[in-house]
Amino acid sequence: MVENASTEAKTEKKSQPGDEEASSALSLIPGTGGVYFLVIDVPGEMVNILTEKVMKELDRLLDELKTRSDIKALTIISGKADNFIAGADVNEIQDITDVVEGAEKARQGQMVFQKIYELPFPVIAAIQGACVGGGFELALACHFRIAKIHHKTKIGLPEVKLGILPGFGGTQRLPRLIGLQRALKLILTGKLLDARTAGNLGLVDKVIPVEHHGFMRAEAEEFAHHILSKFKRHAYENRRNVKRLQAIFLESNAFGRKMIFDQARKQTLRSTGGHYPAPLKAIDAVEFGVGRSLEQGLEMEAKLLGELVATSVSKNLIGLFHLNEALKKDPGVEKTKSEPAEIAQVSVLGAGVMGGGIAQLLAYKDLPVRMKDINQKALDVGLARAKKIFQQAVDKRKLSASEMQRKMTLITGTTNYSGFAGAELVIEAIVENLEVKKAVFAELEAEMSDTAILASNTSSLSITEIASGVKKPDRVIGFHFFNPVHRMPLLEVIRGDKTSEKTTVTAVAFAKKIGKIPVVVKNSPGFLVNRILGPYINESALLLAEGATIDEIDKAMVGFGMPMGPLNLLDEIGIDVGYKVAGILQESFGDRITPSPIIETMFNDGRLGKKGGKGFYIYDGKKKRVDKQVYELIGHRNQSNKFSTEDIQSRLVFVMLKEAVLCLEEKVVRRARDVDAGMIFGTGFPPFRGGLMKYADDLTAQKCLSIFNELALIYGERFEPPKMVSVLAEKKGQFYSEKA
Ligand code: NAI
Repeated sequence: MVENASTEAKTEKKSQPGDEEASSALSLIPGTGGVYFLVIDVPGEMVNILTEKVMKELDRLLDELKTRSDIKALTIISGKADNFIAGADVNEIQDITDVVEGAEKARQGQMVFQKIYELPFPVIAAIQGACVGGGFELALACHFRIAKIHHKTKIGLPEVKLGILPGFGGTQRLPRLIGLQRALKLILTGKLLDARTAGNLGLVDKVIPVEHHGFMRAEAEEFAHHILSKFKRHAYENRRNVKRLQAIFLESNAFGRKMIFDQARKQTLRSTGGHYPAPLKAIDAVEFGVGRSLEQGLEMEAKLLGELVATSVSKNLIGLFHLNEALKKDPGVEKTKSEPAEIAQVSVLGAGVMGGGIAQLLAYKDLPVRMKDINQKALDVGLARAKKIFQQAVDKRKLSASEMQRKMTLITGTTNYSGFAGAELVIEAIVENLEVKKAVFAELEAEMSDTAILASNTSSLSITEIASGVKKPDRVIGFHFFNPVHRMPLLEVIRGDKTSEKTTVTAVAFAKKIGKIPVVVKNSPGFLVNRILGPYINESALLLAEGATIDEIDKAMVGFGMPMGPLNLLDEIGIDVGYKVAGILQESFGDRITPSPIIETMFNDGRLGKKGGKGFYIYDGKKKRVDKQVYELIGHRNQSNKFSTEDIQSRLVFVMLKEAVLCLEEKVVRRARDVDAGMIFGTGFPPFRGGLMKYADDLTAQKCLSIFNELALIYGERFEPPKMVSVLAEKKGQFYSEKA
């Protein structure tokens, strides 16, 4: 709680004659003994954002403050509940299209924060809630930082996630505070820290324990009085220095530093495939700052920020940020009046790969779960799976062992339906067989409460069909998780023909509650993601049959930015599963998609992919490698170099694009951004491209049309341009502007 600082701030605002701006974000409140509070409370916003207007106001106030001899210490505190400062204004960053303008914006911010640093009295940032990006850079310009342990206290510099670098001094002040290695780790990953970890690293000088129920302002005031005592001030400074010295052993000589930067660059290139310039420029900025003055370092930081802010990568990553925000607000149904129902208890049917994973996720989110399978042995498999995932979190120190134990007790097992009646939602994850699922749903209806939602995790069966044996099909919905459940962010929420709005908005709200990104999809073969991936994987098999090599195909798509190539992906999914899905897609879209016989040949050879030890690659515990025997098996006429990387990429991307556009035409999803969310969060489609539809928009509809036409000329019907592409090309429109 940030107590009533905001109320006080407002009161003070009214009583101050000099405060002419009613919408002022800043107010100065006197404390005791010369300690003052600078309260930030941006009007009309849930969180504090450093817009240009706020920065200008801060600039003016700082000019005034430096002349105030009555101020002995200043604490900067937020007037918002549980938010310090959420950063700079993303919209303002998005609007910058020019390198010079970008650098200038950074310089202005740096200059304002430098004024904080140069104030003639100690300045303390009192952090509770998010203190990220520009907000943390402001805190870094203060002389001291204190932070309260609170679930919303998150401290860090996530700028690289928006394709930029911290440009208000972060790349210079952070390494000077905690050493190069630790600073690089934070800047390059954009990871946010809790208050305790920030304290351990020396990012904050005092961590206020959670059991301390005092108001943050009182804590800040007490700390300021400590700082006013020279003795205590030195004690804090010494403690900080000790932490820094422990960290900078390797950094004290040029050779050690060179190693650090070389390694950081190598690691960054490995993890980004060279597609993301921001982390590399952030390394340049940090390296440049070593041994130079802060002023020189800041100038380089501003210059590099300018270069990044105008790139398409940054624009696409910011677009993705907005896409996420829009999805968070989307109830899942247009203009609905239905309110989501509360779901506090869930049942899971089936304790296999998916059931066990779903139960783990729900328990992780502190929801009680009742899991049913046909016998105890099968149940134990599901419980063991959940335990294993929890254990991984404990090993990574994301969870304590006692928390794991407590959460595991939330999952209880049964071999009958006992305990199912109390749940508001059941998620079915049993064998993928329509008749079995239909029978089980009829059974479930009798066991669950009248209002409970009946969800299926089917990856390919019709929700409408599954609901056909149920008396109240309006409460049946598809809840398609991706594997592994705890890691994949996407959840396809599938509306059957009779699924009600109430069921849909409840499912969507619940998906968000358990931390997933829901995309509402109309019931149709393959739903969204598998429908797009099916032709993509199939096309890769066709390429292979035409003489391209496994390596060429997979490398081309990794080069495009996909996390793995399509043949590698098929090995991961399982060739048996791929074969089954190919069959379903052919049944539905046979005239358009001709399955490659290679998938059948591989399946008949007993190759299951990774889970069976061999597919297109060999998995034998050693480094994964192409299985050369595949070429013999499929009678491959090795014609490496027949296809250029661009040829492969354009066939594989355009076969996906065609399917995605058809999904839009058929209203499988409501808008282009749903396709992009599905592809990025369900398949790892490269975020720096903004999504499949954004990629098409960047190419322009005219260019897409001409590529479709060229491909159709060579490969026939499957590349015929969809009508929507021709229409958009004609009117120079964009997929995103079509109800994006
Ligand atoms: P699985 O074979 O690992 O687990 C199925 C479990 O259901 C088994 O433990 C089985 O004993 C149990 N079961 C069968 N009939 C039952 C019944 N009448 N009552 C209670 N339990 C019963 O299967 P998996 O992979 O977990 O798939 C489950 C569902 O999730 C399928 O519909 C599948 O299509 C779908 N799915 C699978 C994904 C994957 O990657 N494995 C991804 C997304 C969806």
